[in-house]
Amino acid sequence: MRSATRVRTAQRGQAGAEKEVRAGYGPWQAASVNREEMSQIAHADHPVKAPLDDVSVRRLLERAVPRADARVLDLGCGSAEWLLRALDNHPHLHAEGVDLSEEALALADRAAGRLGVRERLVLHHRSAEDFTSAKPFDLVLSVGATHAFGGLLPTLAAAREHLAPGGRVLIGEGFWDREPSPEAVEMLGDFADLATTVDRVVAAGWTPIGGHVSTRRELDDYEWACWGSLASWGLDRPADPDGAQALETAGIRRSEWLRVYRDTWGFVSLVLRRTAD
Ligand SMILES: C[S@@+](CC[C@H](N)C(=O)[O-])C[C@H]1O[C@@H](n2cnc3c(N)ncnc32)[C@H](O)[C@@H]1O
Repeated sequence: MRSATRVRTAQRGQAGAEKEVRAGYGPWQAASVNREEMSQIAHADHPVKAPLDDVSVRRLLERAVPRADARVLDLGCGSAEWLLRALDNHPHLHAEGVDLSEEALALADRAAGRLGVRERLVLHHRSAEDFTSAKPFDLVLSVGATHAFGGLLPTLAAAREHLAPGGRVLIGEGFWDREPSPEAVEMLGDFADLATTVDRVVAAGWTPIGGHVSTRRELDDYEWACWGSLASWGLDRPADPDGAQALETAGIRRSEWLRVYRDTWGFVSLVLRRTAD
């Protein structure tokens, strides 16, 4: 236990980490070596690890947080940006975040200290699939982390297990905005189109009560921020092999984005309630 923010350690889930590299999507798959460090550098100017701007995050949270003293869980919280913003806006809200990345949780812990919300945040260093809680949550988030559970519907099934009656889920997931190339599918994973994605969620017993489709600007801003931060970090270290690796990785990922998936990949965030329980 560290200070008032409890970082509970658990076995680092090798299988989960592997899944993120192979079946995740987007810029956080930055590097094969020092992947976590590369990911933190890449997200230095875009701490939300998904293509959403601050206004979109705020509006989705406004829609999703059901009441001022809600209990909120984030499965695959990263550096807990969503939880930190919810805690900052609601002085009586309590939050718990689960992630495999010790580095990301350490960032979350420090940020919680700066914001003065440590007393109300519990961070769990463990695989999201293994997380259990004696008390249910009023809101369960999972944004950009559905690969942790093997896809959108398994993530919703897992979220439901943690949900209090009448609770809400805020889930963020990729989709194909246009027909993807086989290379894009190989690189990012097997998504559906937007309408099919929402149809599947509804068929699984959920009703969207809010949502947001990331705009072209949000999608582009995210990629430019990630690869720009990583490239800039590399340029600042011309004599360091890590600098050269960062610069090379940034160039490869920027090119993959522009050539392989920029024109076909989209991202949707949904606020959901159970249709009937
Ligand atoms: C794209 S990031 C999204 C982070 C955060 N939700 C956000 O929007 O800023 C995906 C996160 O899922 C985490 N992750 C991947 N597999 C996981 C697993 N099996 N259990 C817990 N976290 C996992 C990664 O460490 C990473 O922090």
